[in-house]
Amino acid sequence: MKFFLDTADLAEIEEAASWGALAGVTTNPSLYARIGGKLEDFHAHIKRICDIVDGPVSAESVAMTRDEIIRDGLELAEIAPNVVVKIPTMVEGLAATRALADQGVSVNMTLCFSVPQAILAARAGARYVSPFIGRFDDISEDGLEQVGNIVQALNNYDFSSSTVNGEQIEVIAASVRSANHVTQAALMGADIATVPFGVLKKMVQHPLTDRGLESFMKDWEKVQNA
Ligand code: G3P
Repeated sequence: MKFFLDTADLAEIEEAASWGALAGVTTNPSLYARIGGKLEDFHAHIKRICDIVDGPVSAESVAMTRDEIIRDGLELAEIAPNVVVKIPTMVEGLAATRALADQGVSVNMTLCFSVPQAILAARAGARYVSPFIGRFDDISEDGLEQVGNIVQALNNYDFSSSTVNGEQIEVIAASVRSANHVTQAALMGADIATVPFGVLKKMVQHPLTDRGLESFMKDWEKVQNA
């Protein structure tokens, strides 16, 4: 499993990138709004993220028609070679994904909540598909089960003829709210988990690691004073 950071916050991205295990970043309109992002600065901000991260950076189109999404997507893809255009799973989004994939642009199909949606994304040429765990849980459904179903269904087929450069579509477990979401998504075979910085910090921690470290430090003091 690879880890992406789900944020538009440059300080978080810089910090997480310095830990050495970050493979990419995903953003969305809400995450950009959360950092006080302005419309006129959006492309420049995505460029700043791309300069920090050596990996795919998802930037979302907010257009609603296929022609507008394609135009948006081509502009976003111009920002940097590692930009991935994020497009919602809907009819216009599928059509735009096909057109962009045919032009060599990588697409992350987002707001995916079902196996049929994920298969359609794969057939339309998406490079990534993002099933949302937490938002499914929010409506008393099982978001993790849906991720497992999507991984299993996509593994049943070869989608390489549909995607950019023949690469297999990868599943990004998104809307991750806890380290346990990451554990379960990894066991189900999700290729990537995109996590908020708070979850990434919790993923590093374990009380037994803290306790073990404390006792090693105490014992080393004894060695130094011996
Ligand atoms: O990147 C999209 C997704 O991860 C959003 O998560 O917590 O807003 O449901 P959340």
